[in-house]
Amino acid sequence: MEFKQVVGLRRSIRFWSPWQPIEPEKLQAVLEAIHQSPRVLEVDFLRVAVLHRDQMSEEDLQAMKTPTTTTQIELCPTYIFIYADLDALSEATDGKNLDEMLEAGALNRSHGWSSEFIRDTIVPQFYQEVLDDTDTVAMRFRTPDGMREGPAYSRQLLALGRTQIGIAQGVGLLAGVDQGLGVQLSGVGADVPKRIMGIPDSWITSSPMLIGYAAEGVEAGGQRPREPLEQDFHDGRYGAPFESDPDVVKRLTEDGMFQRPAPVPWRRDELRRLARMFGLPE
Ligand SMILES: Cc1cc2nc3c(=O)[nH]c(=O)nc-3n(C[C@H](O)[C@H](O)[C@H](O)COP(=O)(O)O)c2cc1C
Repeated sequence: MEFKQVVGLRRSIRFWSPWQPIEPEKLQAVLEAIHQSPRVLEVDFLRVAVLHRDQMSEEDLQAMKTPTTTTQIELCPTYIFIYADLDALSEATDGKNLDEMLEAGALNRSHGWSSEFIRDTIVPQFYQEVLDDTDTVAMRFRTPDGMREGPAYSRQLLALGRTQIGIAQGVGLLAGVDQGLGVQLSGVGADVPKRIMGIPDSWITSSPMLIGYAAEGVEAGGQRPREPLEQDFHDGRYGAPFESDPDVVKRLTEDGMFQRPAPVPWRRDELRRLARMFGLPE
């Protein structure tokens, strides 16, 4: 699919076809795309675990619900959990990843990179300082029986890990749309997946990506509202709006990045019929 259409067609899907599993090759294509996400500090923080709804007991499924993650988790066949392994930073202090980037010609002398720079500057200043930071916070895991405390990590390290997760989530969502699949990030309650899949305590996560075939129409009711670009995007200084050129918007609309705004005229009817089909409140 053309990139602008992928961006334009991405919606947070909330109705799935529970009877239709994802083909393994499509799932792999999404995972391969996530694997290609930019790497924070050249550290291999990224970890991914795939969980299928059918692997879960009814009790575990219910424990994963939150006020904002309800029916969608029951209807969706597959969840992709994107993690950051916080122990990866200490493993990267040998500088090997950065050496590889030097050899690959990605980090170059023109920009100040060398073996000495990696060992004398980057590892001590960017890796070790984060590891030695005493401003730490203990990990807390929400289990069905209450909160459980895990190891402590520096806040800086947590921020790096969360950045890595966020960027991988963005790539994953777009890759899912490119495969013709419906996607949504949706928070989960009790960390049941951790127990089911045996995930180590050093792996932190965010909202998993729900992925499958959408039961809603491809537009999922139309493109969702955003504040005007000029209101939130600034040009050169705070308060100077980045002006959105209508001709550019027109071209992007023709290319599919901007689509009909929600709700399309039949959306209420679509929602009523979907609710009826799945036995949900109308
Ligand atoms: C990190 C993250 C977590 C989210 N969690 C939920 C959620 O728990 N439940 C939900 O219905 N939508 C969730 N969303 C989806 C947003 O609500 C959604 O992006 C927003 O409604 C805009 O719609 P769109 O994604 O279709 O453009 C989440 C989005 C992000 C980025």
